[in-house]
Amino acid sequence: MPIDEITQKVSDRYARAASTGEQMCCPTSYDMANLQSFIPEEVIKISYGCGTPAGLETVSPGETVLDIGSGGGIDCFEASRLVGSSGHVIGIDMTDTMLTIARKNAPIVASNLGYTSSNVEFRKGMADAMPVNDGADDLIISNCVINLAPDKRKVFREMFRVAKPGGRFTISDIVADQPVPQYLVHDTHKWGDCLSGALTLTDYIAGMMGAGFLGIHLVKSSPWQVIDGIHFFSVTLTGYKLAPGTAESAVHYATLRGPFSRVVDELGTTYLRGIPEPITPDTVCLLNQAPLASHFILSSTPLWLDRADNRWTAVYPADAPCHWRGHFALFAGPFLEAADDDHHVYRRGEPLEICSKTLAVVETDGYAPHFAIINRASQHVSGDAVTCSPNEGCC
Ligand SMILES: C[S@@+](CC[C@H](N)C(=O)[O-])C[C@H]1O[C@@H](n2cnc3c(N)ncnc32)[C@H](O)[C@@H]1O
Repeated sequence: MPIDEITQKVSDRYARAASTGEQMCCPTSYDMANLQSFIPEEVIKISYGCGTPAGLETVSPGETVLDIGSGGGIDCFEASRLVGSSGHVIGIDMTDTMLTIARKNAPIVASNLGYTSSNVEFRKGMADAMPVNDGADDLIISNCVINLAPDKRKVFREMFRVAKPGGRFTISDIVADQPVPQYLVHDTHKWGDCLSGALTLTDYIAGMMGAGFLGIHLVKSSPWQVIDGIHFFSVTLTGYKLAPGTAESAVHYATLRGPFSRVVDELGTTYLRGIPEPITPDTVCLLNQAPLASHFILSSTPLWLDRADNRWTAVYPADAPCHWRGHFALFAGPFLEAADDDHHVYRRGEPLEICSKTLAVVETDGYAPHFAIINRASQHVSGDAVTCSPNEGCC
């Protein structure tokens, strides 16, 4: 399908949805009672997101927030409340029907929040050519939109252009566990359902890194649909446009605390748990960001850790038999690669089949935030337990 045709069909679909108020799309987990206290029903009923990018404590008072594909404005209005009257929110959308509803409700939300005037403006524009100045935004959010854009790399480059140095994004979107085949890509109805245009997690993150963002990591994931064995799921990702030259000049070493036994960061440096690694100022800047900072000790002189040190973290697999039940772990950063204490190497975005014992490891607090787990078994699995003693490694 030509790009213009995809865009026109997507816009027609959302214009229709906005006028009829039909239910569409995905799991969001909004605190609806909270939102209903200041956002009119007309906006809430046409909320078509797949996450809560503005409601994840990502927004700070006084900030400028940009929402790409703002629709009826639900996330802009939530951001409006969180940035306060001194902050500013810009919503961009290509569909006039959406913009009309969002603009009509902006003064109502402002009044409900006790603001003298609205701090939200809605601009007509495309995600891949945004009517926004360079370096204008502290935080870019978007909710189930980028999958709908035919040229995602162009959108990621636009995001990087409009982010302030030191700025960040929190984006919710639909991705797939494997490349979407052409017969689905060319299904016009499934474009509008946020399926045909879904990238794999690997391609999605590679596109963001290609644009210049770093520290890209998973905030949340939830399953959406399985079509012909392809798992579509919603992810919320955060990443940074780092500001060079802002790192502490006294820091020269990083020591990995764990729980991973080895990681490779996005600038290509490998760290082994407990062993100090010399780092550059750019790496200091990267490792200072959440959640990377919690995995390292940064120091001016080399610092070794051993198991007896309470800063060392590790999760060792149970010495017990395990079962294969169809689970796959999708590692989602903030590292290119990470190894556990049972010989598994997780590469970002690549599903790795894991047994029940490894599932228990990746579900622990230190691991869980970095993984989306899918189950590819299409029916109940009744395999026998397999021996998994350390020398007979089963998975
Ligand atoms: C799935 S809806 C999500 C709307 C809103 N973010 C929400 O959570 O309710 C997608 C929205 O993105 C807009 N959109 C889709 N592709 C776009 C593009 N390439 N540029 C600008 N807006 C786009 C559509 O008009 C629609 O309002």
